[in-house]
Amino acid sequence: LENGLARTPPMGFNNWNTTGCRAEFNEAMVKGIADIFVNKGLKDVGYQYVNLDDCWALPTRNSKGDLQPDPKRFPNGIKAVADYIHSKGLKIGIYTSAGTKTCNTAGFPGGLNHEQQDANLFASWGIDYLKYDNCNNQGVDAQKRYKAMRDALKATGRPIVYSICEWGKSDPKIWTWGEPVGNLWRTTGDISDNWSSMISKAKANRVLSQYAGPGHWNDPDMLEVGNGGMTPTEYRTHFSLWAVMAAPLLIGSDLRKVNDDTFKILENKDVIDVDQDKLGKQATITSNSGGLVVYNKVLANGDHAVALSNENTATATISTTAAAIGMGGATSYTLKDLWTKSTKTTSGAISASVPGHGTVLFRVSKSGTTPPGDTVRYEAESAT
Ligand code: DGJ
Repeated sequence: LENGLARTPPMGFNNWNTTGCRAEFNEAMVKGIADIFVNKGLKDVGYQYVNLDDCWALPTRNSKGDLQPDPKRFPNGIKAVADYIHSKGLKIGIYTSAGTKTCNTAGFPGGLNHEQQDANLFASWGIDYLKYDNCNNQGVDAQKRYKAMRDALKATGRPIVYSICEWGKSDPKIWTWGEPVGNLWRTTGDISDNWSSMISKAKANRVLSQYAGPGHWNDPDMLEVGNGGMTPTEYRTHFSLWAVMAAPLLIGSDLRKVNDDTFKILENKDVIDVDQDKLGKQATITSNSGGLVVYNKVLANGDHAVALSNENTATATISTTAAAIGMGGATSYTLKDLWTKSTKTTSGAISASVPGHGTVLFRVSKSGTTPPGDTVRYEAESAT
């Protein structure tokens, strides 16, 4: 959606993967996350949106037909939380569904046929991001429902990132019509905190690179890093694959409780830079040999990010070449391992031993170039 927003994939937090609808999703938690964004350096590396998911509201609208925050969770309302988050230099997101009710069985009211009223309310609170879910949609055409909220958000005059949570359910598929409608769209059902769920989302999402670009991203769902159900190796794979796929980086763990390893993964600036690269290209798959997968993401400065990803359990060597990723022609290349930070040079082979469920993520740069024309003259010029 060309609304000037999400020129790179959104980065931030959403409570759903850690709290679901439980009571600990409340004002104290949301403010606590905003504090940690600032105090632990997450804001400095690009995390910006603090997003509220389902269950923030009461089950009924008020006499004016407006949505109402649950006073147990948000005793001071949402505007007060938004003001707090804005005072930290961060932005706030909220959630509702493109249906008569949201997904939770408690039956919170949805936005279908209330699009403008709800968009106006969100804008009046200072909301910067809307996740618009797909439950209880009454069979109304998805394009109709998602365009209605896009238009309502635009009519508020407030810049609001528009996240479509349609899960790739309807035909035609959301990614074929999403570009002028939303800033990002879910390509899959819900992720859970285990390897097989995470890798199945990656597999479904990685074939959709042609549809992603600045302002309009494929969304394979939020991060599980730090929630405890995967090993550190698997969480590094999760983060690496989301980065090469230019996926939104929405932290889904309770940062008040996670360990330092989690921060090390989430704050790896080299990996974040791959995700946030201005060119906005999602990786394509160079090769997949029985679960040994090579992802190739072209970056704005001509470098490539190459993920060598092992979906099997045994350690394996995964290899490709500069030519295979479209970088042939140089005399030498520098490979920077974005997790270990070590660098090496190669004449073109890109290869690593990768542990089971692991991913080696290289940033590949041309370090030696065959000069066009007279070599001696070229060397003399570059020496000056
Ligand atoms: C379904 C979505 O896909 C989830 O991310 C979450 O928002 C829940 N609904 C909330 O009910």
